[in-house]
Amino acid sequence: MASTQNQDQGELHAGFRAAFKSFATEAIHVGQEPEQWKSMAVVPPISLSTTFKQSEPGNHAGFEYSRSGNPTRNCLEKAVAALDGAKYCLALASGLAATMTITHMLKSGDGLICMDDVYGGTNRYFQKIATTLGLDVAFADCTDLKCLKAAIKPNTKLVWIETPTNPTMKVVDIKACAEMVHQDNKDILVVVDNTFMSAYFQRPLALGADICMYSATKYMNGHSDVVMGLVSVNRDDLYERLKFLQNALGAVPSPFDCYLCNRGLKTLHLRMEQHFKNALAVAKYLEADPRVERVIFPGLPSHPHHELMKRQCTGCPGMIAFYINGQLEHAKAFLSSLKLFAIAESLGGYESLAEHPAIMTHASVPECECVVLGISDTLIRLSVGLEDEADLIEDITQALDAAHPKKK
Ligand SMILES: Cc1ncc(COP(=O)(O)O)c(C=O)c1O
Repeated sequence: MASTQNQDQGELHAGFRAAFKSFATEAIHVGQEPEQWKSMAVVPPISLSTTFKQSEPGNHAGFEYSRSGNPTRNCLEKAVAALDGAKYCLALASGLAATMTITHMLKSGDGLICMDDVYGGTNRYFQKIATTLGLDVAFADCTDLKCLKAAIKPNTKLVWIETPTNPTMKVVDIKACAEMVHQDNKDILVVVDNTFMSAYFQRPLALGADICMYSATKYMNGHSDVVMGLVSVNRDDLYERLKFLQNALGAVPSPFDCYLCNRGLKTLHLRMEQHFKNALAVAKYLEADPRVERVIFPGLPSHPHHELMKRQCTGCPGMIAFYINGQLEHAKAFLSSLKLFAIAESLGGYESLAEHPAIMTHASVPECECVVLGISDTLIRLSVGLEDEADLIEDITQALDAAHPKKK
């Protein structure tokens, strides 16, 4: 069977791109071949050794030193490459370590354009660190091709896209952006942060991007117990450069974390289906409640980029943003009253989380930018987990009741 979706899921996915062929089979088998180990272990062993014996100087069995290459990391990288439809993948110590490693492909004086609404830490890295390394950093709304085109300069070397954006869930047309940017200059690298979607719902490389990256801390690992980054590419030259930087900068993950993330991938297809189903139910529920001003979920027809989402992706992850009626006190009351959803940063784990972007994840974004982006006092972000749908709705209902007590 080539598709991972059953009939019920077919309805959930109506209008979306078809699921990627043999996704589950590849997640379970690619890079995991027992024949690669003398023991024929079916589950890849955690290879803790930092160094590997050479039969004579310079003659080794594929591994020299664990920063430059590690057997457990190798299994993970091969599996992720297959899931991204890529030739290569590299694992890094965190999503931001992946961002840093990619950015080091540029040199002082080079220009970088970043989507205006991105994860706060990405924004901070580009504004506060990349600029001190001499990079010319600009922000542009990549949902508007004219805006992106206007931002391209002769020194532009990299365009950084995040879609859907964090936290306001704008959807960027990856294919249209990549075509336009590459038409302008084929050497400009188009990078897509695919964290929100995971490899199961979106393949940026197939849409024309040069580099696909993740905070694997989120859906790819999916169990909120690993901090990690992943970078996938098809081009040999990009792989060679990134592999060099992975070793030279040294921001690599531990073998144990690679083992956990590799294990997490085995259920990625099942988890993402359930995230989608639960999130759609929660989003519909919120949208029907008069105490909620607006719900932003790309799986709802009310989302301005719903059609693009269906064209570009195979489904929607569990991320919902919504504006609660009232002021900051109402948002705080809602969040503090939640019992099942934990108030916490991060996303993409099996457990449901809720947060206040302006106070939490996006506190490092300058206030004036928050105003423009819509990161207001009443914006709440949910990462809908894998719990029972009815329990999630019950929790949301009682928290809305607490924030906006019904008049007697
Ligand atoms: C979209 C996105 N990209 C990158 C990152 C950074 O990843 P990490 O926390 O693994 O360094 C995050 C973290 O929340 C994120 O949400």
